Parts: sequence; structure tokens; C-alpha cells
Amino acid sequence: MKELNPFLITDYISTDYFCNRKIESERIISAIENGRNITLLSIRRLGKTGLIKHIFYKLNKKSKLRLLYIDILPTNNLKDFIKVLSDAIIKDEQKKSGNYLRKIAKLISGIKANLTFDEFSGIPKLELDYKNSYDAINSLSQIFSYFAEQKEKYIIAIDEFQQIISYPEKNIEALLRTNIQHQHKDNFIFSGSNKHLLTSIFSDYGRPFYQSADFLELKRLDISEYSQFIENHLTIRKQNIDIDLIKEVIQYLDCHTFYVQYFFNRLFELREKNITKETIEYLKHNILIEKEYIYYSYRNLVTSSQFQLLEAIAKEKSVKETTSHEFIGKYKLKQASSVNRSLKALLDKELVYFENLEYKVYDVFFSKWLEKL
Ligand SMILES: Nc1ncnc2c1ncn2[C@@H]1O[C@H](COP(=O)(O)OP(=O)(O)OP(=O)(O)O)[C@@H](O)[C@H]1O
Ligand SMILES: [Mg+2]
Repeated sequence: MKELNPFLITDYISTDYFCNRKIESERIISAIENGRNITLLSIRRLGKTGLIKHIFYKLNKKSKLRLLYIDILPTNNLKDFIKVLSDAIIKDEQKKSGNYLRKIAKLISGIKANLTFDEFSGIPKLELDYKNSYDAINSLSQIFSYFAEQKEKYIIAIDEFQQIISYPEKNIEALLRTNIQHQHKDNFIFSGSNKHLLTSIFSDYGRPFYQSADFLELKRLDISEYSQFIENHLTIRKQNIDIDLIKEVIQYLDCHTFYVQYFFNRLFELREKNITKETIEYLKHNILIEKEYIYYSYRNLVTSSQFQLLEAIAKEKSVKETTSHEFIGKYKLKQASSVNRSLKALLDKELVYFENLEYKVYDVFFSKWLEKL
């Protein structure tokens, strides 16, 4: 088998494949150790989930904490939430204790679940059948009672937390908050990419989660440290590259973690002994060509004015005032009100994001492709 590509783009393996985030890890761990919840936010694909896994990896080595990670992006209601959370509990118990079935029996009946086992893998599967919302609400408090009954401290990371806002149940925030509030020994990491929704959950006066967690906004990795990390991985695998060339690539990709990881994953795959500027240019070009069919299809997802605005933002790389005379004139856009409407649609579709008072195209490769049009 070929050796592992050190530039991971899906899962977390260990600290060796994870660049830095020392300060952020320490802050989160310290908050947890001092009994505070934390909200982790950043634009998409910058490394929130990776950071949670990284922290769990470190905590797992040194403590007796129980660590649960759930991603609630695919959940649509409280029942889904309960299913994902109870699945995580069962998986964790299965890992920790031999006699886990006896331990979770009360929980299973408390949440009115049916436990079956996958015929082939033997993996336990939960089925929930709730007649009404009261069943779900009651189950939620059963789960939290379960946490309270355990002697170990639980750290529960809820990724894509803003998803709860779209649940149809009334007062979902108050319901979760009440349950969470009573967990004196346990702590929570809430994470997500929708800054606007997350900050309003946690900082709007009068909302249930108001000031119930510290905020940590994840920024881009430090370019020097990131390039050093990349150089180390390449050189120990006998691929030589000039560090300035790495820095150039990182800058070209706006130091957006996923895109940088992806680029170097592809570069590593070429297994060149001496990586030159030509190889880099070749790869930049190839990646855009390969993704072109997706980018053309994006054209059908947006109106022509929206596409024109996307192209203009990409060509500028970042734009402060999308309705300035200069910008509108330069790219022959329609009047300001129409640009505003398009901008809102692009933000809603997560094709564009707003950061440090500037608008940028979210997908870095797409932005590079648009720039060339
Ligand atoms: N510090 C790091 N060092 C190396 N790779 C990283 C680092 N942080 C993240 N990555 C990698 O970058 C990619 C994107 O990170 P991740 O999925 O954690 O971002 P995210 O902010 O959770 O994105 P989303 O908002 O889409 O859920 C992943 O493939 C991850 O493995
Ligand atoms: Mg994530």
C-alpha cells in the first residue's frame, strides 16, 4: 500500500497531521477545565471540526473525560437531535465498557427507543417512535439525567449548532438551554459557520442561551507556521520544495485551510522529487479544469445578475462596497438596488461571505476560475 498522504482533507488522524492551533486549543481546554461552555465559529472550511477532533484527541490522552461529538447538520427536528445524541452515547459506552448494554438499558427505555443490531456489522441501531412532541421533550430530559448520573465529566461538542433554529418545535432554544443549564459537571462546545445566527443565539439579550458560552472565532492559520508544517511533511517524504513557493500557494489560496490542504494533497500525489514553479502552475490549472463542469452548473443555480456580481467580486478578490459607483461602473452591473438583491441571494446561498468588512467568493477554486473568465 502507498504511504499515507499527509495532507488530510477528510478526517482527523493525530497531532502530526494537524497544523498548530495551539492557542485556540489551550483556550478551549482551559474553558472546559474551568467549567465554561464555548462557542467556536468561523467561515466554512477553516478548521472548526478539525479543531474539535484535535482537542478531543489531546484530552483523550490525558484525562478521564467522556467526549461526545455530534454533527447536527443533517437533523431536522428534536427527534433527530435525540437520535444523534443517543447514538453518540451508545457508541461511547460501547467503546468504554464491556457491559455497556446493561448500563444503557435504562436510558433506552427512558427515551422510548428500540435497540436493534445490524445483521452484518453488529453495530447497535436505535429506532425512535414518538407519538407527540411531549415524548421528544421527555426523552431529552432523560438523556440529560443520564449525563448527570454518570460520575465522569462529559464534554459534548455540538457541531453546526445553528441548525436548531430550523427545528419546527416551539421554544427549542429554551428547552435545550434548561437541560444544559442543569448539567453542573458537564460542558459544551457549540460550533458553526453561520456567524450571524450563532452570535444572535448567544448574544441577543432575552434569548435563552444569552451569554451562556465564551466565544472563540477561528482565524486563518499563520502563514509562516503553515508553510513550515507543509515543508516538513514534504521533506521528510523526500520531496523538495522552496518554502517561498509554499507561501505563494498559501497566499494564492487565501490561506483557506481546506483549499490549501486539498492543493498539497494533490501536489503530494504527484510524488515529484523536486517540486518546481512549473509543477505548481500545472496543478493550479488542472484543478480548475477538473472542477469546471461544476462551476458551469453553478451558473444555472443563480440568475445572470447574480453570476455577474460573483464574477466581479472574484476579479476584485474582495470588495468592500458592492454598490459603489466605481465598482458598478467597472463591471457594468445594474443599479445599486439590484446589486443589493443579488448580493443577499449570494450570501444566502453561501456562494459569497462577509468577513472583515469585505465580501469574498466562498469557494476559493471557484473564485480563481471566475477570475479567469
Ligand atoms: N490545523 C489544521 N491542519 C491541517 N489540516 C487542517 C487543519 N484544520 C483543518 N484542517 C483540514 O481542513 C479541512 C477543513 O477543516 P474542517 O472540516 O475542520 O473545517 P470546518 O470549519 O469544520 O468546515 P465546515 O464549516 O464546512 O464544517 C479538513 O479537511 C481538515 O482536515
Ligand atoms: Mg465542520
